[in-house]
Amino acid sequence: MSAMKRTPIVSRRRFLQTGATAALSFGFPTIVPSSIFGQNAPSNRITMGVVGWGMQGPGNTNSFLAETDCQVVAACDLDKKHLEAALGKINGHYQNNDCKAYSDYRELMARKDIDCVMLAVPDNWHALVSTEALRNGKDVYGEKPLARTIIEQQAIVKAVQKYNRIWQTGSWQRSVDQFRIAAEIVRNGLIGQIKEVQVGLPAGHHDFAGTGKKTDVTAPPAELDYETWIGPATMQDYIEARVHKNWRWDYNIGGGQLLDWIGHHCDIAHWGMNSDNGGPSEIKPIQADFPPRTAIWNTATKYRAELTYPGGITMTIAGGHPDIKGGTKWIGTDGWVWVDRGGYDSSKPELKQSIKARRGDTVVETFRAPKLGDDIIKTRLYETRSHFRNFLDCIKSRKPTITPVETAHHSAIPGHLSLISLMLNEPLKWDAAKEVIIGNEKASKMLGREYRGPYKLEV
Ligand SMILES: NC(=O)c1ccc[n+]([C@@H]2O[C@H](COP(=O)([O-])OP(=O)(O)OC[C@H]3O[C@@H](n4cnc5c(N)ncnc54)[C@H](O)[C@@H]3O)[C@@H](O)[C@H]2O)c1
Repeated sequence: MSAMKRTPIVSRRRFLQTGATAALSFGFPTIVPSSIFGQNAPSNRITMGVVGWGMQGPGNTNSFLAETDCQVVAACDLDKKHLEAALGKINGHYQNNDCKAYSDYRELMARKDIDCVMLAVPDNWHALVSTEALRNGKDVYGEKPLARTIIEQQAIVKAVQKYNRIWQTGSWQRSVDQFRIAAEIVRNGLIGQIKEVQVGLPAGHHDFAGTGKKTDVTAPPAELDYETWIGPATMQDYIEARVHKNWRWDYNIGGGQLLDWIGHHCDIAHWGMNSDNGGPSEIKPIQADFPPRTAIWNTATKYRAELTYPGGITMTIAGGHPDIKGGTKWIGTDGWVWVDRGGYDSSKPELKQSIKARRGDTVVETFRAPKLGDDIIKTRLYETRSHFRNFLDCIKSRKPTITPVETAHHSAIPGHLSLISLMLNEPLKWDAAKEVIIGNEKASKMLGREYRGPYKLEV
């Protein structure tokens, strides 16, 4: 254990209030690590609270633990076992007991010594937890999709602007070179004028929690506050198969593959289209396979919608349609570019770099996005070395992150509208500036969802 790790952590604000001499009297007056006066001394660290320790929370938190100017001081979860795991990981990392446990996120948010929060809770809770954080002056790293409905998303955007906070969305693909270079190529007109965009998302359901067969109604486990877990959504019986991780296959809590992935591949599509603040004007339902609404996993297993953007650009959002490849593909008047986590390709040889690998007796050729010079790429896009580092840097600089709240809002809107259109099997007209559905009352009602009492969304 290093001397640095044994040093009692003084909260940033308390340190600032009491000064360095007070800090020295905290227990180790003789061995003071030199860094206490340096850049990453406790006084200079960004203090963070983390909410949600399921599938994504631990990974996000690990990335913040690796940053020495950040100190995770609080963790919150409704599941006692998850919370225990969070404390074990965080306090184990710092070799102390300074990270405090909360089951009520409002208590965590009320702490004045916490600068920012990382939120990785299911979609039904995004709006309430993040607006509480913003009201309490926290900067927020929040997960995609921005929220479960467009109305909730609008509330989050309003709160970020009202309280003037820094927001980073978990749409981390923007911080990966391959996605940025692909979007830059498109933005710089190297495939001509964009005519069509294909956003290929996964289909079906995936049993993330391994509880897919646990479909009986039972009492919730003692460690989980299930009543609060349901939160503002509709109360329903406890069925293990639709709670942790697999909630995304239940429309009561999540939005299926469509909304799970829209904040990744449509986010990249918009980046290339220069549409971070824009959106479609028309949405047409093409095809959807919905299990019965009463099924435990009731989200669409196959879906396809067609959206019209300004300039007559068509966007197809699809899952389970083999002609639409997973990832993002922009098709222009002069060629195409496709990008995904596992690959990159273009119709133009000068816009791709060949990688050849031997697999057994055959040589397999794949491609990567080429690094092009400033003579070709005149418009450079926001570049980061790490999505998490970018959040911390922006907390310090007070400059926008690579995926600010407005971007997250617009990246998810096409997904929400496609879902509404597919559920109703009706085409929709969308006023992207006013953010309203034109002339369809039933669809307009689906922009939000009724909140179960006593929950109320306020900005
Ligand atoms: N960026 C990415 O690549 C990525 C990947 C996976 C998930 N996600 C997003 O992360 C979020 C969480 O997804 P997950 O798969 O980790 O879910 P999960 O069910 O695995 O974990 C959520 C955790 O939040 C806790 N929780 C629920 N409501 C709470 C509340 N009100 N207060 C405190 N804790 C609460 C649950 O008990 C659980 O431990 C979702 O928005 C999801 O879309 C993002």
